[in-house]
Amino acid sequence: MRNVIVTGGSRGLGLAIASALAAGGDRVIAVARTETDELRSAAQEVERSGRGAVHFRGFDLTDIDGIRGLVAGLRKQFGALYGLVNNAGLGMHGLLSMMRDGDIERLVRLNTVAPVVLAKYVLRSMMVERAGRIVNVASIVASGGYSGLTAYAATKAALIGFTRSLAREVGSLGITVNAVAPGFIETEMTRELTQADRERIERRSALKRLAGPEDIAAAVEYLLSEKARNVTGITLTVDAGSTA
Ligand SMILES: NC(=O)c1ccc[n+]([C@@H]2O[C@H](COP(=O)([O-])OP(=O)(O)OC[C@H]3O[C@@H](n4cnc5c(N)ncnc54)[C@H](OP(=O)(O)O)[C@@H]3O)[C@@H](O)[C@H]2O)c1
Repeated sequence: MRNVIVTGGSRGLGLAIASALAAGGDRVIAVARTETDELRSAAQEVERSGRGAVHFRGFDLTDIDGIRGLVAGLRKQFGALYGLVNNAGLGMHGLLSMMRDGDIERLVRLNTVAPVVLAKYVLRSMMVERAGRIVNVASIVASGGYSGLTAYAATKAALIGFTRSLAREVGSLGITVNAVAPGFIETEMTRELTQADRERIERRSALKRLAGPEDIAAAVEYLLSEKARNVTGITLTVDAGSTA
């Protein structure tokens, strides 16, 4: 069974990704601070199906110094790590001039530093196996430009730059590195958006609707599949044509 770490796997996009990968036969290790009932139910459903598995590991990814130990523990418990989906992230809305410095620092730590450091340690396992897949969950905001999401956009644009360079660095070892850029998806992160905001995004999208968590999960599943063996360094946008 392939071992795949999905950060932020307890709810929202991460939960959809974890469920889809486990349903496809992977052993998913969902990392988040708190386990949710939804994740427990997903794990039970996977167990009943007799295919794949979902495990929860509680960890605060802003504890950068603890990441090395986290990865060592997972390797010891589950064996070689095949996949890493860097999905955990914080969305922070607000005018830059009004943001607290500490909040900006926390955002960068979770959205950018943690995925880079996590990839560093997981890569060591992948390099031994000469196989592996890394998928970074970015955002259309990384390239689009959205007032009120400046610091968040900086963290996501950084992930895309990281993806492209790391793809070059580890390609010869049989490891692929890609990003997925979701458009607006209804999760806890976006609960503050009004019905009017949602309708406006739908109206402006090419397909006149929103993408859902299952669409992001399908993109990640593809990038981790054999079918994507020759795909690396890309950013796959999944936004129902919001940026088309
Ligand atoms: N929703 C959208 O419209 C959208 C659009 C583009 C990109 N994205 C990106 O997609 C990813 C998932 O977003 P989402 O909408 O699913 O968000 P969400 O519903 O808020 O879920 C965030 C996940 O990250 C975990 N997390 C948060 N802080 C953490 C920490 N310090 N340590 C470990 N885990 C932590 C959360 O669990 P705990 O709180 O229990 O730790 C949760 O599992 C994010 O990277 C986001 O930027 C989302």
